[in-house]
Amino acid sequence: MSFEDLRKKIIFALDVSEIEEAKRWVRLLKDHVGLFKVGSQLFTHVGPSIIDMIKQEGRDVFLDLKYHDTPYTVANACKEAVKLGVAMYDLHALGGLAMMRQAVSATDTKAREMGIVKPKVLAVTILTSMDKQDILDIGISHAPEDAVLKLALLGKQAGVDGVVAAPQEVKMIRENCGQDFIIVTPGIRTIKDQKDDQKRTLTPDEALRMGADFMVIGRPIRHAKDPLKVIENILKDMEVAQCQKSYGA
Ligand code: C5P
Repeated sequence: MSFEDLRKKIIFALDVSEIEEAKRWVRLLKDHVGLFKVGSQLFTHVGPSIIDMIKQEGRDVFLDLKYHDTPYTVANACKEAVKLGVAMYDLHALGGLAMMRQAVSATDTKAREMGIVKPKVLAVTILTSMDKQDILDIGISHAPEDAVLKLALLGKQAGVDGVVAAPQEVKMIRENCGQDFIIVTPGIRTIKDQKDDQKRTLTPDEALRMGADFMVIGRPIRHAKDPLKVIENILKDMEVAQCQKSYGA
């Protein structure tokens, strides 16, 4: 895989509030990362025009609003996501099988009606900011990785295109859900970074070695003095991991 293919795997988390700041990041990074992730902070402040701005810059969007509601409400929200023309969006697998099934079906139907390529639907398993104690506190007594696998398989059964999961869980999900199942991993930290609120983290090269398709990276780039240098260093590490993987090291 070339340097440019590795670059496409990086999803930059545009976790800012102002459209002008978002625009500065998109212009700076558009030739350096694959996708821009718009989450609840930016979308709540700016609204759908943020998607138009990114698309006008010629880049694709991962709409990360993590839908979790009744099946009917989520299905209608998904139709709106299709209308926005995003490349991928996500929902919580914890919303259950019926919610995910209706989301997938609404997405397919709306995209077909509009004659456009349907966005990829991703199911968030267990947030990477949660550890064993956190999930115990909300009544899930499985180990995080068991809960993640259960939710990933449920997502697959519902027909989602892939999942959002911690890097440590990629190998297990890949083995159980197949090669075509998209795996997006947040919780990426280089060795030098603080973990912030993330608890289940790995470095970008480790995530790649595990078989992640995409990596969401926010603060390690956003808080860097030289964001482009951080990206180039991440890519160099990924390239080494890629070579080691090809040679079976
Ligand atoms: O700044 P950092 O690199 O931790 O960025 C993490 C981003 O990934 C945030 O935008 C967060 O919403 C998102 N995310 C996550 N865990 C998930 C899904 C998405 O941290 N399971």
